[in-house]
Order: sequence, then C-alpha cells, then structure tokens
Amino acid sequence: MAYVTLKEILRGARENGYGVGAFNFNSYEDAQGIINGAAEKKAPVILMASAGAVKYIGVKQTAYMVKGMAESVDIPVCLHLDHATSMDLIKACIDAGFTSVMIDASKKAYEENIRESALVARYAGKTGCSVEAELGRVGGKEEDVIVKEGKDTYTNPNDVPRFVKETGIDALAIAFGTAHGFYKKEPNLDFELIKTVAGITDIPLVMHGGTGVPPEGFKKAIASGISKVNVGTELKATYVNTLRDVVKKNPNEADPRNYLKAVKEQCAEVVKGKIDIFGCADKIV
Ligand code: 13P
Repeated sequence: MAYVTLKEILRGARENGYGVGAFNFNSYEDAQGIINGAAEKKAPVILMASAGAVKYIGVKQTAYMVKGMAESVDIPVCLHLDHATSMDLIKACIDAGFTSVMIDASKKAYEENIRESALVARYAGKTGCSVEAELGRVGGKEEDVIVKEGKDTYTNPNDVPRFVKETGIDALAIAFGTAHGFYKKEPNLDFELIKTVAGITDIPLVMHGGTGVPPEGFKKAIASGISKVNVGTELKATYVNTLRDVVKKNPNEADPRNYLKAVKEQCAEVVKGKIDIFGCADKIV
C-alpha cells in the first residue's frame, strides 16, 4: 500500500492502545518474511536494518529492496535505520530513501546527544524522513555496542522535555529495564517510568530489546505508553536455526530456494505471533 515514515506509521498507536512491531532483518528472506507476516495480519510494520545490516546488503540495495516490497503489499511499511552513530551512514540512508533513521548518541553526554540528534533531525527534515533518538542507555549487546545493565542507565524523566523540544525528533527510545540480546533471567521492567515519560511528552516512545520479553511484559509496556516495539535477536535465531535444520534434513538439495523458503516462512510466523501480542493486527489506517 504505502512506504511511509515512522511518524506516520506510529500515529494513533498510543491513543488506540497498540504497539507497532519493528523487526530487524539482515537479508532478503527475513525482510520478505516480516512483510508477509504483517500483510497476513493486515498490520502496519517497521523493517529495521542495523548499520551492520546496511553495510552487508548495501545502502541503496536495502532501500530499493524494501521500497519494492512495500509497494507490493496492502499495508503501510516503514524502513528504519537502527542504532546508527555515523553521520555519513545516516545521511546516505536518508538520501537513498529510508523513511526513518535512529541516531544513537545515548552514550555521549546529554548536551552532545541533543546536538547530534538535532543535527540529524534537521537533515532528515529535507526529505521528511523521521528520526528516533535515545535517552538513557538500553543494556546488553547490539552488534559492537555493549552496555552494562543497571538502574543508573535508565532514562531520567527530567531530561525528556528539553531533549524533545530542542532536537525536533519524532520518536524517543527509553531505557526502563530491557536489554538487547537474550536475557539471562526474566527482565524486570519499570512500567511506572514509561507512564511518567508518557505523561511528559506526546511523542511516540520506543522499547528496545524485545527478544525474550514475555507477552504480559509487552502488553503492560504498550498499555503504559510504548508505541514502537523492537525485536531483533529472536528473528536472527529463527533464521539460522531454521536454515540449519532444513539443510540437515535435506543435505542433497540443489536449489537454494528450497532451503530459504523455510526461513521466510518461519520469520513470518514469529512476526505474526508478535503482532497478536502487540495488538496491531487490522490497524492499517
Ligand atoms: P533484541 O535483539 O533484544 O530483540 O533487540 C532489538 C532491538 O532493540 C534493536 O534495536
């Protein structure tokens, strides 16, 4: 139906009590699986490419591939650059037609985070591309970024009003107890913190580190004010585990499509399950 910005795809999510799934992909198969799963559920969907994924696939290749996929289905699709720190990469993705980018300057001092996030928002404004930034630090390992976990990394609500006003961003990632990668024990999420931040600002709030969060955790986070829900590691694991299994079962297959079709289908299954939890099925506006 449409290739849309993050701002557009998240519009109405908080008021209507649902979250929009944002899923990391690394190649054609998982990207198409994500879109197929969302299309089956008639759900809006955000496809996220990390800096590493964009380097692997190519900037224009990523943008044109996802735009082509978006134009072939009847749901809104947003293409988002996840956790970028390089201004050159961010500009290249905006110029190539990404509809959303994340500038992650969260490890920098508050003033510098504001300065860099504002710079990206100004550049993105030229094409109407949306911008997500992060306040506080989401724990765990995301590609080569490792953040220790602990309450001192949580978002400080007092930092929010000035950050939102001076940067001009469209969505804010907050740290409230989630972490990237698999959890060693069930995460303890601070839902009150989400509610506090949601009471301070109307801009959509983003939850990172979705892999391993139980359904009730997602539901409570969304009811507390989260609008964009990120899931990455679970899809990576689905991709490699499916591929390993299907190769093991059919070691003499000569056509790669007969292996990779299973990857596409299993990624779609994971996405459909998450869409049911996030409540965004049939929410295409
Ligand atoms: P997980 O890999 O823990 O699901 O987190 C994904 C994410 O937040 C990407 O930004």
